[in-house]
Amino acid sequence: ALPRDLDGRRVVVSAGGTREPLDPVRYLGNRSSGKQGYALARTAVQRGAQVTLVAAATIALPEVAGAELVTVGTAQDMRAAVRQAAVGADVVVMAAAVADFRPTDRAEYKIKKTDREPDPIGLTRNPDILAELVQARADGQIGAQVIVGFAAETGDSAGDVLEHARAKLKRKGCDLLVVNAVGEGKAFEVEDNSGWLLSADGSERAVALSSKSHMASDIWDAVVPLIQA
Ligand code: PMT
Repeated sequence: ALPRDLDGRRVVVSAGGTREPLDPVRYLGNRSSGKQGYALARTAVQRGAQVTLVAAATIALPEVAGAELVTVGTAQDMRAAVRQAAVGADVVVMAAAVADFRPTDRAEYKIKKTDREPDPIGLTRNPDILAELVQARADGQIGAQVIVGFAAETGDSAGDVLEHARAKLKRKGCDLLVVNAVGEGKAFEVEDNSGWLLSADGSERAVALSSKSHMASDIWDAVVPLIQA
């Protein structure tokens, strides 16, 4: 049986990949299936938490019984939903793959194929939801106590990946960073995940390749001691 160590806690988990529209039928997106975020939400419910799952685009996944589901499209939609849910939450886990940029122009009608060369796609930076949550907490605005980020990193070696991830932990200022080495056939879409858990206090732990549910349990094990009584 799973420990009921999240009893009475309110947690917010984001999952899936945001979609940034170019026109009514096309978008810029990413390969997140939502599996890791859904596993985190399901495990948190099983451990007693009251869960809000903010889901961008995912593959068809079984619903997480007992969680409140909020579906969103773009990074800006996700930002609004996460900020709202984060008020008074004990933990926010940003497992979603959020687009860093969106097309600057969103055509009202489907962009037509023409004989001339296509226009380049202009991009505008999206807000960094995770960094904003950390800032809002520092300003005393949003009460989420524990803030967990993910880092999907590519690199030629584990050393490279960890070096990037340590810098990201500092930059983003979250309490725990879950690092996934990504690339061909890794982390995105597949059943299993592996990586490292980096804490703001400097402790680091490797998570061997295992199911995303297993990874979720390891993440909650690391989060629970960070929640104040
Ligand atoms: O969905 P699956 O197929 O199961 O795959 C899981 C996963 C690989 C998508 C997941 O484990 C993962 O790594 N998610 C984060 C992917 C990512 O976008 O990483 P990043 O390094 O670009 O972002 C770092 C962190 O900042 C993330 O917590 C992200 O949610 C957050 N972020 C990023 C950009 C942005 N504008 N706002 C954010 O809050």
